[in-house]
Amino acid sequence: MGELRGTHVPVLLERCLELLAPALDRAERTVHVDATLGLGGHAEAVLEAHPRTVLVGLDRDTEALAHARARLARFADRIHLEHAVYDELPDVLDRLGYPAVDGILFDLGVSSLQLDAPDRGFAYAQDAPLDMRMDQTRGVTAEEVVNTYSHPELARVLRVYGEEKFATRIASAIVRERERARITSSARLAELVRESIPAPARRTGGHPAKRTFQALRIEVNKELAALEAALPAALDRLTVGGRMVVLSYHSLEDRLTKAALADRVRSTGPVDLPVELPGTGPTFRLLSRGAELPNEVEVAANPRAASVRLRAAERLDPTAEQHRRTDRERYRRRVRAMHQPGTGSAARRPAPGDGTGTDEEGEGHDD
Ligand SMILES: C[S@@+](CC[C@H](N)C(=O)[O-])C[C@H]1O[C@@H](n2cnc3c(N)ncnc32)[C@H](O)[C@@H]1O
Repeated sequence: MGELRGTHVPVLLERCLELLAPALDRAERTVHVDATLGLGGHAEAVLEAHPRTVLVGLDRDTEALAHARARLARFADRIHLEHAVYDELPDVLDRLGYPAVDGILFDLGVSSLQLDAPDRGFAYAQDAPLDMRMDQTRGVTAEEVVNTYSHPELARVLRVYGEEKFATRIASAIVRERERARITSSARLAELVRESIPAPARRTGGHPAKRTFQALRIEVNKELAALEAALPAALDRLTVGGRMVVLSYHSLEDRLTKAALADRVRSTGPVDLPVELPGTGPTFRLLSRGAELPNEVEVAANPRAASVRLRAAERLDPTAEQHRRTDRERYRRRVRAMHQPGTGSAARRPAPGDGTGTDEEGEGHDD
């Protein structure tokens, strides 16, 4: 294991600790899952702040795990570090004998270790073999994607995962170039992307290859499929009062997170009843008002935080008085909305983020 390149400052660390504390402080022994251990920055702070908390840390990157293991060595008697993709969390918890947990953190995306590594191919700014696998022990590389996917497949990956408006032009340039010679380096790919987009577009929105590299990374690691499966599975494992915090770095991750949480904070019962029917009430409440953004101080101290979006939720006690009060208030809001001019008499189930639904029910921290 080499020296760590650069420094990794855990993103929104204080806010994550603040959100997780009520869940981790409330019992003799609590269990916290760090689903994206990385270099162990968030995990170390949780272990320091909660001396009775056991940590289950997952990462699909063996190099990250090795660094985290060294960093967390002094907590060896209360950590389990596992080489796993986070959608394997239920299997990991079953194997370790933890049917339920109290805290879960997802800090998505790549670590500074991966970005800065000269041999991993994640960064468009330095030349490296086109690998981009977070888990270098398995799976296809970015080189295989770039050199074997059909033109329509490449264009789809760039458009959907990179939100790249010049996806077709870039895919055409890649296909033309690989007929001449196999594309094997990140510098060659970055150059091809730069050449294939119109000159005025090169001057806006950061490095022209940024979106292509993001798209390839997501495709290579099947990131969105893993996240879509992992979030509901993780929520299922939280105890009453247990809390989950998710840090996303692009809109696709944040959309999946928002949808997974919206599913749990919404009632499934008939909207025109004043009480919830058994088993139809919300099972979680949001702790964040919409997606929380970093403040200027955080971004100045840690440029990686610039694109972060934080969402958090807590599992509700289905028998709690506070919960029943929330339900009745929600019911009154629905009735009021039904009687507003222009809304008609048809009751509409509130949707997340529409001002009548889940987003207004967070604790409302705006920092
Ligand atoms: C942003 S870093 C986490 C940094 C960490 N919070 C810290 O303070 O050091 C994200 C980590 O998640 C890992 N990762 C990304 N997707 C994963 C997945 N599907 N399953 C497991 N680990 C994943 C990456 O390998 C990377 O090490």
